[in-house]
Amino acid sequence: MSLTLRPITENEWLDWIAVDEEAFGNTLPPHRVELFRSNAELDRSLGAFEDDLLVGATAVCSFTMTVPGGPIPVGGITAVSVLPSHRRRGILSALMGRQLADLRERGEAVAALYASEAAIYGRFGYGRAADNLFFNIPTHGSAFGRHAPTDPALRLRVVKPAEARAVFEKVFEAVLDSRPGLYARTPARWDAVLSDHETDQGGYGPLRAVVVEDDGGPRGYALFRLKQSVTEHDVPDGELRLKELFGLDPAAYALLWRHVLDRDLIARVKVWQRPVDDPLIHLLAEPRHLNAGWLDDLWIRLVDVERALPARRYSAPVDVVIEVEDAVCPWNARRWRLSADTSGARCVPTDDPADLALPVTALGAAYLGGRPLAALQAAGVVHEFRAGAVRELSVAMSWDPAPWAGLIF
Ligand SMILES: CC(C)(COP(=O)(O)OP(=O)(O)OC[C@H]1O[C@@H](n2cnc3c(N)ncnc32)[C@H](O)[C@@H]1OP(=O)(O)O)[C@@H](O)C(=O)NCCC(=O)NCCS
Repeated sequence: MSLTLRPITENEWLDWIAVDEEAFGNTLPPHRVELFRSNAELDRSLGAFEDDLLVGATAVCSFTMTVPGGPIPVGGITAVSVLPSHRRRGILSALMGRQLADLRERGEAVAALYASEAAIYGRFGYGRAADNLFFNIPTHGSAFGRHAPTDPALRLRVVKPAEARAVFEKVFEAVLDSRPGLYARTPARWDAVLSDHETDQGGYGPLRAVVVEDDGGPRGYALFRLKQSVTEHDVPDGELRLKELFGLDPAAYALLWRHVLDRDLIARVKVWQRPVDDPLIHLLAEPRHLNAGWLDDLWIRLVDVERALPARRYSAPVDVVIEVEDAVCPWNARRWRLSADTSGARCVPTDDPADLALPVTALGAAYLGGRPLAALQAAGVVHEFRAGAVRELSVAMSWDPAPWAGLIF
């Protein structure tokens, strides 16, 4: 099979949609095709062509993402698809290899993605950098502990999501830097968040929203949908599906959660993709009622170790020689000395003996600060040659709060 890899042109846009739909086994409604198009950067797409036939594709979103210490440019990998007739012939491998080389050439030292299946991307150097939790909370078990913060100056306002977009954007801008993994949203990304076509509703009703505010302006918002029902004995059994909730301070955050948990006729609140350190865990008097489950959130790839490691801040001073294994990006595969203190970091090539050795996946997993390298050492992924070196690097790379992107791309 002879493959040509190149960006997809506007004329090939519908072919890309067809490959995507075949690969994922779904049909995109017209408004979703439009949203896909407005979020897609065609010049950053990559199609795999067998003669004239598009058989595989992917694209990069130009993100500004928060990492420990501040925002950096990150390539957001999306829309990875291979035609089912051409699977397992190395097309994804070809796309990934070329895409990583392109990212490096463009100067993006870090790439991020959400995975449809967690087994796919490790071989391409992506490490599981963030986790998320899903909750299924019976509202009758949702009382807060006595310490839950309140603020009498706060009030709730029911708003129409389409009319309150500027408020959501303002709140989101204010939280963006607060957590590694959050990425800046373009207008097209907001269009997708607030999209409320019947096919977006998934059997729940239209998107609803509340804003919490004080005299100084908005302090947070929650977006959600409702599905009303009753039991056979006519007891209210409705469900609230939370889409997102951001509060700028503890009292605003607690009030928003109290609102969604206290809606009349609602028996349970379901939500996917909450951060693993969600304050709600500590607000509930009985956190077992979260009925929490655990999944992977962001996967991170250090495209260029030399530039990626100094681009973030470190929680403690560190000076280690790291032997990096990287079969896909050979420019990373060597020994690096990482020296950092709380004011900045340097990463330089070295021939000094290694203090530890790890695959580039482990650096990606630890990059946002939420994956202790010590755990990867215990799992046999990371190897230590100088006693204490893994712990030193693990502590330095850790960060508070936990990473989380909160929105699949
Ligand atoms: C996942 C997908 C992109 C893989 O494409 P592909 O061209 O078949 O992948 P390749 O042939 O390049 O496979 C490379 C390696 O990854 C492995 N691999 C591919 N898909 C995998 C999967 N879903 N789970 C585990 N391993 C997988 C292959 O077995 C191969 O392993 P090897 O190198 O040890 O032989 C394709 O099957 C697809 O489009 N799936 C549906 C859509 C999807 O899930 N996309 C990913 C969105 S995040």
